[in-house]
Amino acid sequence: MSDEKQQVTRRQFLNYTLTGVGGFMAAGLLISPLRMAIDPVLQPSKKGDLANVGLAVDDIKDVPTRVDWKIDQVDAWYESEVSQTAWVYKNEKDEIVALSPICTHLGCTVSWEGNDQFPNEFYCPCHGGRYTKDGTNIPGTPPLEPLHQYEQKVKDGMLYLGNPHPRGEA
Ligand code: FES
Repeated sequence: MSDEKQQVTRRQFLNYTLTGVGGFMAAGLLISPLRMAIDPVLQPSKKGDLANVGLAVDDIKDVPTRVDWKIDQVDAWYESEVSQTAWVYKNEKDEIVALSPICTHLGCTVSWEGNDQFPNEFYCPCHGGRYTKDGTNIPGTPPLEPLHQYEQKVKDGMLYLGNPHPRGEA
């Protein structure tokens, strides 16, 4: 092989360089939307799924009872178990009510009859927020909206709960 055949002309060098740079830029444009399509951040988390909370419908009383369960939560590549809590009871129409324990004032945790001075109410210890049994905020206390209600369904006699929503949206 002669030295002449191995030489790359200036024109060939420019062609190779521009083709390489153009290909690199095109790949960049294609990779971004492809990454968006398969990125775990954009995949649905299991958080919104209705979960069996381990409570038989027949065991639900007319007094709010604290129910705790765990769900799988996926944040990007990190998967973890997250604890959830609801106050669950049957109202006078025998309907199941599942309330979020998160105070709608600033997010503290409310408890049923959490203060002896206010029986038959939910009470928030942070700023004295109060709610009636159905989760309605009591005027004159800090919360400005009712406790949120969980999406719910009954399957095979067991209670399933999803995400809490403002009243009327659950
Ligand atoms: S956070 Fe509950 S009253 Fe303020």
